[in-house]
Parts: sequence; C-alpha cells; structure tokens
Amino acid sequence: MNVKQAVLAGMLAAGLGLAGCDVITSIQKGGAVERLFGTTSDGQAVKLFTLKNKSGAELQVINFGAIVLSLKVPDRNGQLADVTLGCDQLSDYESKTPYFGAVVGRYGNRIAKGQFMLEGQTYTLATNNGPNALHGGLKGFDKVVWQAQAVQASDGPAVEFSYLSKDGEEGYPGSLAVKMVYTLTDKNEFKIQYTATTDKPTVVNITHHSYFNLAGAGEGDILGHEMMINADRFTPVDATLIPTGELKPVQGTPMDFTKPMAIGARVNQDNEQLKFGGGYDHNWVINQQQAGELTAAVRVVEPKSGRVLEVLTTEPGVQFYCGNFLDGTLTGKGGKVYKHRYGFCLEPQHFPDTPNHTNFPSCVLQPGQTYTQTTIYRFSTVK
Ligand code: GLA
Repeated sequence: MNVKQAVLAGMLAAGLGLAGCDVITSIQKGGAVERLFGTTSDGQAVKLFTLKNKSGAELQVINFGAIVLSLKVPDRNGQLADVTLGCDQLSDYESKTPYFGAVVGRYGNRIAKGQFMLEGQTYTLATNNGPNALHGGLKGFDKVVWQAQAVQASDGPAVEFSYLSKDGEEGYPGSLAVKMVYTLTDKNEFKIQYTATTDKPTVVNITHHSYFNLAGAGEGDILGHEMMINADRFTPVDATLIPTGELKPVQGTPMDFTKPMAIGARVNQDNEQLKFGGGYDHNWVINQQQAGELTAAVRVVEPKSGRVLEVLTTEPGVQFYCGNFLDGTLTGKGGKVYKHRYGFCLEPQHFPDTPNHTNFPSCVLQPGQTYTQTTIYRFSTVK
C-alpha cells in the first residue's frame, strides 16, 4: 500500500477502533509497537517496529532493507545505550549509508568480476565495487521494501519479514522467496532466522550488516574493543578483496584472534592483507564441529562499559570489517559524526566469491531445497 492508502487505512481503522490493520499511527502487538516511519522516494510506505523485551532492551527495525535502526542494551551498571550506527532519515538509508543495519543479499560480499557459472551457464552481475560485484548489486536486499509484521515469539517480541526476489533480479537466476524473523529475546539476544526457496538453481549468501560500537554509536572508535574469533584459518584475498582460494592459518599473523585481542592492537601493522583491506575486512573460517551447527563464532568485550557481544551462527564464515571506509563525511543518529573505525561489522556468511571456488562450502540452492541460517547477536556484560 502507498502512503495515502496507509493513512486512509489508519484513519479508517482508528475510526472503527480496529486493531491489527496494516499501517496505523501506532499499533501495539505483543512486545512490538508499529508506526509509519517514512516514504521511499518512489512512494512506498515504510513501517517502524519498536520491540521491547522483558529485560528492558529495545530494538527498532524498519521494513526498508529490514534495517536495524537502533539497538539499546545495558552496560554493567544497567545504563542503556544504542550500540548500532545509523541515520535518522529514510532518505539517508536510500542513498547514503554503507549498509548500516541492513540485510545483505541475494549474494552478500564479493563475486569476482561480477561473473559466475552455474550449471553450464554464465551469469553477469553489476560490478559495483571496483572490478567486482558487491552485496547483491545496485538494488540489493538492503534497498527494497520487505513485507513485515510484528509477532510474539515464545522467546520475545519479533518481526517477520518476507521478500520475493524475482528471476533475473540483479542478474541472479531463479525467483527466490526469502523469509526472516528478527526476535529480541528476553535474554538480550537479537536473533535472526532466515529461510529461502527458489524455483531455479541459484546462489544464495544472505548476511546482516549492523555496525556495532559497544560504547555507544558515535562514542569514539572501536579500536579498544577486545575481540576473540573462534577461527584457526581465514581466506586471504587479492588487492580487490577476492579470496585467493587458500584457507590460511591465522597463527603468527595479525588475523589471529584465537585469544582476546584489542581490534586496534595490530590493525595498522605492515601486512599485505591489512593493506589490501585498509584494515580488517576479511572472512574468517569458523571452527565448526559440523557444517550448519549453531556455533559460538565471535566474542567482543568493550572494557569501559563492560558490554559484551557474542555472535553465534550456523554459517561457515564471518566477515569482520572494522569500519575502514568510515571517514567522517557521514552524520548519523542525533547529529553524531561517524569517523574512521567508529563501528565494526560481524557478517556471518558463506565465503566471499564462493560461486567461483569449488573448494569452498557451496552456496548453491536448488529447487526443492530450503536455505536456512540462524544468527544470534547476544549481549551481556562483564564486571
Ligand atoms: C563489507 C565489505 C566491505 C565494505 C563494507 C561496506 O564489510 O567487505 O569491504 O564494502 O561491507 O562499506
């Protein structure tokens, strides 16, 4: 429905005292409140959902790009802060932000030269990142309006999203029906459950692109955060950030986060991989007991606030990006300027450029199969 229809529906529903209608000024459903957030440049109404759990945490999401607008979690003294970077205006999300808070797909991360072969046919994608394709194309999953509704899950308030990516959209074969459930669990977890099905063989690599700063969005850089990644290997890249195909041991390199280490401790070292990324912008191979098993992948501690973020995922890899492209030109929520390395992303996913590497875990989805992923961003504190 467009804005006019939404407003009319709202007026009608309010007048008739209806609950549960599509977009009304404000609807309460379980632990979620829904209201109109804005209108896209092509006139589509965008809804904002505010979820509160029993522990006092709050998650705000919109159905444009299924974007996380804010996520407020307590520090060691119970003080809430918004730990995700973002903007106040929908128009900024449409044209300015580097995937702040968004879902990324159909294929997150890079595909070399925007080309891959599947079942004997070559597919060509837009090259939007130097010579390569990045994050699903010119209008990826982060730039479309998703169907969305608030629901009450057994473990907390939730929003269900769905989107049909048509056959040929952004060059990918097959109509892909994607569903996601975002839950703010009562244990202060932001949980994402994804499923997708296709009508033709295709490639799928969906991920989440929140930028975190556990001291609070806009409150300085993230170099003092201490990180541990449960990975003995990473996928080294060439100068355009395409994997060479090797799974390289992290031992003895600045990529070794097997023990807690400040993000900033080695980020500026004279190292070819760090030079290629302008810092950390690499995929780690998670130590999984079994493919597809929910595994604790990353743990980050912000020493001053005591906030802790753990990432658990069923995906085989995680892209850790430390905000190297943030340069102070973007003004975020509440007028705060996001400078170099003011946020970091932990993007659970299949390895970059998998369609061109037969030795990587496959990202091909066949008709009749269901793509599934569960990722949990779990917040807690230390003394
Ligand atoms: C990912 C990529 C980075 C960059 C950011 C967005 O993390 O790997 O190179 O594109 O997204 O700016």
